[in-house]
Amino acid sequence: MKAIAAHPPEKRSARLIDAPAPRPGQGEALLKIRTVGFDGTDHDIDQGVYGSAPPGEEDLIIGHEAVGEVIEIGDDAQVSVGDVVVPTVRRPCPQRCPNCRKGLMDRCSTGDFREHGIKGLHGFAAELAVTDSQYLVKVPPDVEDVAVLLEPLSIAESAITETYLIQRRMEWEPSRALVMGAGPLGLLAAMVLRLRGVEVSAAATRQHDSLKADIVRQMGGRYINVKEEPLAVDGGYDIIVEATGSTRAAMSALPHLARNGVVCILGIYPKGEVCGELGDALTKLVLENQLMFGAVNSNLADFQKGIEDMRALKQRYDGMLSRLITSRHSPEGYREALEPGREAIKAVIDF
Ligand code: BGC
Ligand code: ZN
Repeated sequence: MKAIAAHPPEKRSARLIDAPAPRPGQGEALLKIRTVGFDGTDHDIDQGVYGSAPPGEEDLIIGHEAVGEVIEIGDDAQVSVGDVVVPTVRRPCPQRCPNCRKGLMDRCSTGDFREHGIKGLHGFAAELAVTDSQYLVKVPPDVEDVAVLLEPLSIAESAITETYLIQRRMEWEPSRALVMGAGPLGLLAAMVLRLRGVEVSAAATRQHDSLKADIVRQMGGRYINVKEEPLAVDGGYDIIVEATGSTRAAMSALPHLARNGVVCILGIYPKGEVCGELGDALTKLVLENQLMFGAVNSNLADFQKGIEDMRALKQRYDGMLSRLITSRHSPEGYREALEPGREAIKAVIDF
């Protein structure tokens, strides 16, 4: 079968290979993959700075954002042939730490979890893939067309759910949020915040006539081109979501955090980068009871919330979700999908 594989830690190693077709074991499902989306993590794996192949293998089939159809099941599988599904990414650590035991693999406390397409398990950028059926999320027909966005949406759901959970440390009624970055994750986080009734400003480096800016406006948000406009707003932002992966961008947002506010960090930042104003930010953090936290991955509940929100978003903002998919490629077009350019939002591969 056709598959897109990388060879970590080799640089720019992604290529189309002919891989053996997997078979479902006990509790597993065999998926005929329809569509796979690529993100910064796939890009980093291709660049050789992230990711690991399954033990004893050299190649890692990449791709962790997928939608597929169940075509065969092993004994005791929890799905049926014909189901359209999206797989979650992370699988529990062998030690079954307390979090993994509760299905909260996104908060695994050993770090020995595996991730499809990223860490120790093959991914879904292939004609066929196998995974444990208990981690498959059924996709209702009305959101099938945008289901490839469910995995990145689940990351946004997880981040925002955790933000609200953490803020139960005090009385807190957020009214304004700032999202740094208008890539898929930034835009999806902005959408989830809009559904919670929060005023959203999204800041990025694209022009006001770009697609990204237009999507921000479509959801009733304010777009800030940071090259031309200030981030500042009266009273500051109650929530800041950092989704640029730029240390400088992250630091530039901190002075605009409101008293009692919270910053959720979602990027991966260049190693060893030094930034000047940290002292000021830390003092403000203390004197204004602010909080900064990082969040990675997502669990089944976040995917389920994502399905619910996809429906709500489709109803409220017609056609908006599909506008995030800016290009579709064949498996042979994997290179363009991995390097789609700065105006692109989400590139996907149809298998
Ligand atoms: C994925 C997460 C994963 C993270 C770190 C992200 O791109 O969406 O599921 O946990 O990379 O490997
Ligand atoms: Zn664990």
